[in-house]
Amino acid sequence: MGKIAAPDEVLYHIGISAQMIKGAKYALLPGDPGRVEALAKALGPAEPVGCHREYTSWLSQVEGEAVLVCSTGMGGPSVAIGMEELACIGIENFIRVGTTGSIQEKVALGDIVINKAAVRLDGTSQHYAPTAFPAVASLELTYALQQAAKDLEVPYHTGISVSSDTFWPGQERYDSFTGYVRKTLQGSLKEWQALGALNYEMETATLFVVAQSFGLKAASICGVVAKRTDSEQVAPADTYRLASERFQLVAKRALQDLIKAGK
Ligand code: URA
Repeated sequence: MGKIAAPDEVLYHIGISAQMIKGAKYALLPGDPGRVEALAKALGPAEPVGCHREYTSWLSQVEGEAVLVCSTGMGGPSVAIGMEELACIGIENFIRVGTTGSIQEKVALGDIVINKAAVRLDGTSQHYAPTAFPAVASLELTYALQQAAKDLEVPYHTGISVSSDTFWPGQERYDSFTGYVRKTLQGSLKEWQALGALNYEMETATLFVVAQSFGLKAASICGVVAKRTDSEQVAPADTYRLASERFQLVAKRALQDLIKAGK
């Protein structure tokens, strides 16, 4: 067991306390603060609990249990800061819900990707465990997400993410300010494809390694908004809407099932 904050202590970065989250053990973690309210309301009756920096928090109810929805902003550093403080106020299960770029032909725009592991192309997780340490998801949470996607007949894929600190060079995108990708990253997209990785995103490796280092659980579900076998561009808003509707539905069903099962 790690450090537990006093019930009324408002934590410095996330701006919320243990008593504000009413015993919530699960947190859904979107990157985008703008997605929090809709996500919380889609889960059940919801109320805002805090808004500080990139951490916008709403509390919702699933099967009579409080569930926190808290944004993390983009990338590993803010994920880890959020997780440190969320763990101190009692969160034990972290489920990232976000967007991703597919790198395999079979993973279509709007599909769901459930990541069972991640390539650690981030810097933050290096501060928690050496590079040889794997970034892996909780089997229990991942299975619940898979089962929910199956039950809801949402097209989904399970596999490995490449979690990069950068949207451009780390994901071998050339449509950047300079158009330059450093030598060591040139050809990396092809290599990840050959190794069967499914997608690029920016948070999952940090999430998995930090959760494991805490002895807590994490899982990750993303909607595909870019298809890198076709283009470097992010798809238009209707694809984004479809992808978010799907990860919202799947995450809700998985939470219902987990909480009903007393997990
Ligand atoms: N998020 C990413 O990190 N990459 C993409 O291509 C799309 C979403």
